[in-house]
Amino acid sequence: MLDGTSGYLLAQGPNEVERLQKWGRIWEPEAEAMLDQIAIQPGWRCLDLGCGPMGILGALSRRVGPTGRVVGADINPQQLDAARELTQGEGLTNIEFVEADAFHTGLPRESFDLVHVRFMFSPLGKDQALMQELLALTRPGGVVVTQEADDCSYICDPPQEAWERLKALTADAFERAGGDAKAGRRMYGVLRHAGLEDVQSRAVALALPPGHPYRRWPIESTMATRPKTRAWGLMSDPEWQQMVAECERIADDPEIFLISFMVNQNWGRKPVQKRT
Ligand SMILES: C[S@@+](CC[C@H](N)C(=O)[O-])C[C@H]1O[C@@H](n2cnc3c(N)ncnc32)[C@H](O)[C@@H]1O
Repeated sequence: MLDGTSGYLLAQGPNEVERLQKWGRIWEPEAEAMLDQIAIQPGWRCLDLGCGPMGILGALSRRVGPTGRVVGADINPQQLDAARELTQGEGLTNIEFVEADAFHTGLPRESFDLVHVRFMFSPLGKDQALMQELLALTRPGGVVVTQEADDCSYICDPPQEAWERLKALTADAFERAGGDAKAGRRMYGVLRHAGLEDVQSRAVALALPPGHPYRRWPIESTMATRPKTRAWGLMSDPEWQQMVAECERIADDPEIFLISFMVNQNWGRKPVQKRT
């Protein structure tokens, strides 16, 4: 069994399965809008790498249809069990699950028409190594798709200091763990520099009405990363507790307008002819 926690900062977060399924539903319309532009064909073989307990498996499965195949891969078997249960409950029978490390999947080279990752570059970093594996798995002429977060749009109006402090703390934790809370903005360049052709992009942020789960994400992310941020000596416990309490108040205050982090969607085609 692979170590499902190594290098992944949020693995210890409470209710990680529930959180990721909630996120999957929130972003599903935007994933569908992106997939409309990619024009996936029935019969395609697609991979959602680091799919977690939902990812975009359902959207891919419905689009490739009964003659196609979707592989959901993740390092964490509990996430895969949850994804299997969810998709089987939806009657989706063309999905198989593989426990794999995204950097060394062991999956057959050039065997997928489409390879997708979401929220993997931002927590894990190692852009080149991850992109190398994505490219290696994609057939010539196939599509590599990334969806990554950028915290630039995650703001309050009127501005709130505690919100900015906790956002910065989580960004710092991501960076110390090798990731980047602003990875989204870099992905267009990462895909182009990897040699992908016809690279296209969408960028989306969501307004967060009262009760929206993302009004509490700075709290959830700082809870999940607190063992590390404490070990790294980032913010004293009393100050951190005060910031969390303040952000609880912000999340519940209908007078405060909030916008989510941005999701940058980028996709490009692997060249048919290898460059010399
Ligand atoms: C932030 S979640 C994103 C899940 C999913 N892609 C989505 O958008 O809902 C990151 C996922 O990557 C998985 N993961 C972390 N490190 C990994 C690795 N080295 N190889 C494969 N999966 C990994 C985690 O178990 C988790 O399910």
